[in-house]
Amino acid sequence: MSETSPKLRAELEGIPTYKPGKPAAGGGPVAYKLSSNENPYPPLPGVMESVTAAAASFNRYPDLACTLLINELSERFGVPASHLATGTGSVGVAQQLVQATSGPGDEVIYAWRSFEAYPIITQISGAKAVQVPLTPGDVHDLDAMADAITERTRLIFVCNPNNPTGTVVKRAELERFLDRVPRDVLVVLDEAYREFIRDPEVPDGVELYRKRPNVCVLRTFSKAYGLAGLRVGFAIAHEPVAEALRKTAVPFGVSQLAQEAAIASLRAEDALLGRVGSLVCERLRVVEGLRAQGWTVPETQANFVWLRLGELTVPFAAACEQAGVVVRPFPGEGVRVTVGENEANDIFLKVAEGFRKDL
Ligand SMILES: Cc1ncc(COP(=O)(O)O)c(C=O)c1O
Repeated sequence: MSETSPKLRAELEGIPTYKPGKPAAGGGPVAYKLSSNENPYPPLPGVMESVTAAAASFNRYPDLACTLLINELSERFGVPASHLATGTGSVGVAQQLVQATSGPGDEVIYAWRSFEAYPIITQISGAKAVQVPLTPGDVHDLDAMADAITERTRLIFVCNPNNPTGTVVKRAELERFLDRVPRDVLVVLDEAYREFIRDPEVPDGVELYRKRPNVCVLRTFSKAYGLAGLRVGFAIAHEPVAEALRKTAVPFGVSQLAQEAAIASLRAEDALLGRVGSLVCERLRVVEGLRAQGWTVPETQANFVWLRLGELTVPFAAACEQAGVVVRPFPGEGVRVTVGENEANDIFLKVAEGFRKDL
């Protein structure tokens, strides 16, 4: 066999591989996965029925244009169908946005730490990543992000609420930031956790998009709607951005099962948002419980909490795992813990309490 391997693009060197949340350990008496910000509720019966019915024809390709889903979304959000584009999860759409705007010599700005896919998809494109540190309070530093814009900037991600800190940027500061961004730079408002927001000062990206042609909103069915395993997300954007997304889409990327499940979920929105309400109550219980134990917890508007633990991150995550809950460690920085089933949250709170006492 020859030693020579096929030539690959130099940009791929050193790309960190996406680390999925660790699965819940098997074998133990209880094992809960709080490492991927998933929805702990099983699919609604009606959604299951739609998927089961769609499964009968998976020998056929799906509807390439996701016509029915796009029409439902168009009505639901009051936007033209031509301003909608679907993809394989919102991360798939985010990658298309980078691909459509940025290449070698260009720059993509995002806060750091933020969603770990941003560095990966930026590096794949060949563009330079410009990471702007969060403020000491773990919030996007929008002034510093605006200062980082150059004539090479093509795209800026604003993750609101931010993964993994759960922190938000509010209406006035976001509007002020958008006013500073040149009109030919795309701002992507990644609102994967939008439905979990209860703070009225956090703007709905869709309202901002209406007045600003360089704003694109990313949403997903993976979190509040509980369809993470089916891979469907979407963008709301003006032309020509939405058109560019249709051009860069992998043909037939969104399966018919995913399309039917998403449509059924939109029609069952009341029940799904009721579940989100319960998770928001649990979030409050977890945050208040942690604070009562003496932890500093940033205000979270997502379905997870962030504990900045520094060097204690890895031992803390190990203690959680031993007790039956798997959390997401970012070594040297902190842990992100999804708000899950009540029993799982109880276990996590108990571990946090014990750990705190031993400090
Ligand atoms: C901020 C953010 N954006 C996008 C995604 C991607 O979600 P999906 O590709 O499942 O829609 C995630 C997933 O964790 C996320 O945290």
